[in-house]
Amino acid sequence: MKLADHKATLSFSNGAPSMELPVYAGTIGPDVIDIRKLYGQTGMFTYDPGFLSTASCQSAITYIDGDKGELLYRGYPIEQIATQCDYLDTCYLLLNGDLPNEGERNDFHKLILNHTMVNEQMQFFLRGFRRDAHPMAVLTGLIGALSAFYHDSTDINNPEHRRIAAIRLIAKMPTLVSMAYKYGVGQPYMYPRNELSYAGNFLRMMFGTPCEDYVVNPVLERALDRIFILHADHEQNASTSTVRLCGSSGTNPFAAIAAGVACLWGPAHGGANEACLNMLEDIQASGGIAKVGEFMNQVKDKNSGVKLMGFGHRVYKNYDPRAKMMQETCNEVLSELGLENDPLFKLAKELEKIALEDDYFVQRKLYPNVDFYSGIVQRAIGIPVNLFTGIFALARTVGWIAQLNEMIGDPEYKIGRPRQLFTGSPRRDVPTLIKR
Ligand code: CMC
Repeated sequence: MKLADHKATLSFSNGAPSMELPVYAGTIGPDVIDIRKLYGQTGMFTYDPGFLSTASCQSAITYIDGDKGELLYRGYPIEQIATQCDYLDTCYLLLNGDLPNEGERNDFHKLILNHTMVNEQMQFFLRGFRRDAHPMAVLTGLIGALSAFYHDSTDINNPEHRRIAAIRLIAKMPTLVSMAYKYGVGQPYMYPRNELSYAGNFLRMMFGTPCEDYVVNPVLERALDRIFILHADHEQNASTSTVRLCGSSGTNPFAAIAAGVACLWGPAHGGANEACLNMLEDIQASGGIAKVGEFMNQVKDKNSGVKLMGFGHRVYKNYDPRAKMMQETCNEVLSELGLENDPLFKLAKELEKIALEDDYFVQRKLYPNVDFYSGIVQRAIGIPVNLFTGIFALARTVGWIAQLNEMIGDPEYKIGRPRQLFTGSPRRDVPTLIKR
């Protein structure tokens, strides 16, 4: 870390001695004040629920400028990555720090595509679930279970184990997600075909059957690949921080990624794409565009508990650049499938138009996020709504593993252990039963 050319001075109004704190500068973005010695020198903690002002680590992977609406993977703008690279190039970039040259690219693609099969026992494990189980519940279990299948890549302190676990996770996620889907609909699992692209293979495992050949539609293949790219990493969000915290205890990579999947499921995070599509369907069912005004009034009424799902972001206070790319993909997919008049897409556009002009949203800087349009694209491709977050998990796996490996390799890494401001009862004695 580079010291900034100034320090921060912390002073107290109660006459306690002030303290100088080092300030570090990143390559871009806000400086950070190093408070690691604060407790030792003052006996005080900082208080920051939700990490509103806390950098939990140093990282060189992804950078978001929330005011500009900019997202960089290893320095490259998401718009360039999404139009000039594919998802596996993106994985290579996130894991290794740079884009692959031609030879590296061929080797990496081959490596991933050669690890797509899962242990055959996995399907028997899957069979223990109810057929109507939510795919995210199934995936949390399946991914956690990988550590019971791949004993030779569970030592997080061994760089070779970490490398192999990364390859396995990226390669096997599409197989596991499609198995979770096929199990739910009662169709036979489709084994991977390694001559297909990463996204093409996934489409075939999802929608192909052993009864006939499956022909991959290149527009849908590209759209899915773009969904994967746009979701690949997003710096220290809730699930990534969960993976880091979980991994900081030294647990194995599969267990840490399973923790990330569990966190992603929530509707404020990865579950928002599912929640957003359900919201659009509810509005449509209750009268469609004519009911948008009524719905917006509910959203603005704090007592209603209704949110405009797919809107707002902790970091972006401008248009989420991923949402722009997703809207473009949405247009392409709908026109390829002859669904230009899709009522949910029209509804989403109407909601966006109203929100972008409404004082409530303007004042709070609430813009569409990646989830606003991704559900419409996925639904058009044929992906069931309850699998949307599973697709997000598939794509985010590379980000989680890159961040986990970065943390383990960081000489400053320690087990994560936040402190607290205690507001409960001070010490007291247990009364006898009759006195309680
Ligand atoms: N609809 C209505 N009001 C909103 C929304 C929304 N979607 N998002 C934020 N607000 C309001 C919020 O009520 C608050 O108002 P006030 O200042 O009057 O109390 C203000 O905007 C600030 O919101 P916040 O909840 O303090 O912001 P946050 O940074 O804690 O939450 C968020 C960010 C993403 C959880 C939130 O915007 C949200 O719940 N959005 C809907 C869910 C969603 O789309 N999530 C996907 C995020 S992107 C994909 C991912 O990373 O997983």
